[in-house]
Amino acid sequence: MYKTVLVNKNNNIKKSYLDKVKLVKTLNINNEEILLEEQTYQAYLKLKEFLASKNIIIGISSAYRSFSEQESIYIEFKNLYGEEYANKIVAPIGASEHHTGLAIDLTVFIDNHFLENSEELFHHLDILETIHKYLSEFGFILRYPKDKENITEYPYEPWHIRYVGKFVASLLTKLNYTLEEYLEKFSGILIVNKEKGMTSFAVVKEISNLFGIKKVGHTGTLDPLAEGVLIVAIGKATKIVELLTAKDKEYLASVKLGIKTDTLDITGKIIATTEIPNNLDLNKVLPKFKKTYLQEVPIYSAKKVAGKKLYEYARQNKTVDLPKTEVTIKEISLISKTKNSFTFKALVSKGCYIRSLIADICQELNTVGTMQKLIRIKQGNISISQAKTLQEIKNNNFTLLKIVDVLDYPQIIVDNNLKLKIKNGIYLKNNWNIKDKVIFKDKNDNLLGIYELQDNILKVWKNFY
Ligand code: DAL
Ligand code: ZN
Repeated sequence: MYKTVLVNKNNNIKKSYLDKVKLVKTLNINNEEILLEEQTYQAYLKLKEFLASKNIIIGISSAYRSFSEQESIYIEFKNLYGEEYANKIVAPIGASEHHTGLAIDLTVFIDNHFLENSEELFHHLDILETIHKYLSEFGFILRYPKDKENITEYPYEPWHIRYVGKFVASLLTKLNYTLEEYLEKFSGILIVNKEKGMTSFAVVKEISNLFGIKKVGHTGTLDPLAEGVLIVAIGKATKIVELLTAKDKEYLASVKLGIKTDTLDITGKIIATTEIPNNLDLNKVLPKFKKTYLQEVPIYSAKKVAGKKLYEYARQNKTVDLPKTEVTIKEISLISKTKNSFTFKALVSKGCYIRSLIADICQELNTVGTMQKLIRIKQGNISISQAKTLQEIKNNNFTLLKIVDVLDYPQIIVDNNLKLKIKNGIYLKNNWNIKDKVIFKDKNDNLLGIYELQDNILKVWKNFY
């Protein structure tokens, strides 16, 4: 996560930062010992080797800096060029990206020497700008680009590169974002095809690490045994997670007949076995479950009763009355069957446990059974064909959906006057005959807010500023 750490005029480096990273020794162009974060150094070596093959010889003029080193640089610049200029180009002590060990001031070997100062470097800008083209392939970004001075608060520094890892570097380059813009603006919905064996939380954690973004959440937990569609929200998109959780879900479920387990799935302990009847009439029994009914919540679930999760009762061998929730099975059909197993497809409402549905179906079949495979093939209008595995996402094979792409509320484009009202969360008259929620966007397709009809007036539900 430290790879996207933001250190700038508004964000000083945290005291604990160096506890988490390893600095390694190398030499600068004057053969003095310097320090650099480990992965940054490895990436630098690869970049250097690659550029050498293009006859560009690079060296490091500055890398990790302690507070006192930054102070010396500041004083040196102040003495040479005056305070105003020093303030403009040298970061305040504690606010320099060089404190992270992830930043490098590059220089180039030309005419028998390494270019020594900014004047010389600007004189050979063409070479530096050639280097810029390759940075992201090695996990670096140009940290203070020309046209972003108002955001970075530093003038163009064609020599200062920053390691963020290849994944983030290519994303930033593609989006033409500075690190500031990325951390503030980057958001969206990722459709993950979760593999078997992982918890949903582990998927979220991997995505968070990969993108270097802390705010990541998922909708509708999939147990480790289950696979398929897991909707993951990044950044501001986490605000709408609850709307997606509420959607109908479609599953492909496989049942192993003849055994019953404590968890109602194949990962549990077998607690009963029976002969499997010969003439299971699945075609007759399954359609009976196309209904709304009160379903018992499985004991091995995170549902809370009296402030405690149900599985905690089970682990502590305590008895508890299992709650029942109203669920609707909207569609159900048989996909395949063998003597001791069958697979079905079901479209179910929020809160339905497929494990419980299976137990109920097996009871109706006068036998027992347990869930052995579960694939979520749809959540709301998002289907598994849109989903990417973590590996595919790591290989940059993914589309990030916008919040408006996954919600089916009416969308209204507003003028500047209304935009201001929405920005301030002002209640609005329901001029559009909205029944539930409405999405407000500006002319440039930016999401401003989601409002909700309450007591005949539109009130802000979530703001996206
Ligand atoms: N020149 C860069 C901004 C620094 O002092 O960190
Ligand atoms: Zn620098």
